[in-house]
Amino acid sequence: MKPLNHVAIILDGNGRWAQAQNKSRTYGHKEGMKKIFDTVLYAKQNNIKHITLFCFSTENWNRPEQEVKYLMNFPKNEFSKKNLKKYQDNGIKLCWIGRRNKVPIECKQVIENFENETKNQSDIILNIAFDYGSSEELVNSVKNVLNDYVVNKKVINSLEFKDIYNNLYTANQPPVDLLIRTGGEQRISNFLLLQCAYAEFYFTKTFWPDFNNNHFESAIKEYNNRNRRFGQIKE
Ligand code: IPE
Ligand code: MG
Repeated sequence: MKPLNHVAIILDGNGRWAQAQNKSRTYGHKEGMKKIFDTVLYAKQNNIKHITLFCFSTENWNRPEQEVKYLMNFPKNEFSKKNLKKYQDNGIKLCWIGRRNKVPIECKQVIENFENETKNQSDIILNIAFDYGSSEELVNSVKNVLNDYVVNKKVINSLEFKDIYNNLYTANQPPVDLLIRTGGEQRISNFLLLQCAYAEFYFTKTFWPDFNNNHFESAIKEYNNRNRRFGQIKE
C-alpha cells in the first residue's frame, strides 16, 4: 500500500445522470450531494487524511440562474445544524477552499459556522471547493505574497515557490496524491492545478450520483498499482 494522504474528486455527471431518467438537472444535484458524507466516511476508513470535493467552480456562475441558485443552497442542506453532529461524531473537520466574497451571505455564514463547529475534529479534513478555481486561487495567493513583500520591505529575489504554495487555500495541507473525476470527461477544469503537480489521475464514466464505495475502492486499488517516480527513475 502506498501512502495516500490526500484524495481530490471532481464530482461530475449530476445533470446527465438526471436527464437520463427524464428528471431535472437540479434533481441530479440533490442526489449527488447526498453522496458526500458516505464518500468522506469511506475515505476515513481508508486512512485518508484529506479529501477535497469540487462542488462549485468559479466558472459555474455561467450556468442558468435557476441552477446556480439551487447550487448555492447546497451548503444550507448539507452543512445544516441537523447534520452537524454526524460530522462531529465522525471526526470530520470542514475547510472551505474558494473565494468567499461572491456567494450569498447566508451561504457564507452557513459554511463558516460549520467550519467553526468542526474545527477541533482531526480524523479527516474535508475540503469543500466552493466558488473555487485555481486561477482565482493563484491570484489571491500572489496578492497575499505581494502584500507581505510590501509591508515587510522584502527583496523580490527572495521569492520562493513555497511562498506562493503556502498562500493557496489549501495552505498547510499535503499535495493531492489521487485525483478522481467521475462522469467520463478527462480534464482537470481549473481544479487544484498546483496541488496536483504529481497526482495520479483516475477517470471513471460513472456519474457522480452513482459513485459508491466499490467505485472508490477500484480507484484506490489502481492508485496502489501505479508507479510514482516524482521525476526520478524508481519509486
Ligand atoms: C457536477 O455535475 C456538479 C457540479 C460541479 C455543479 P454537472 O452539473 O456538471 O453534471 P453534467 O456534467 O452536466 O452531467
Ligand atoms: Mg459537468
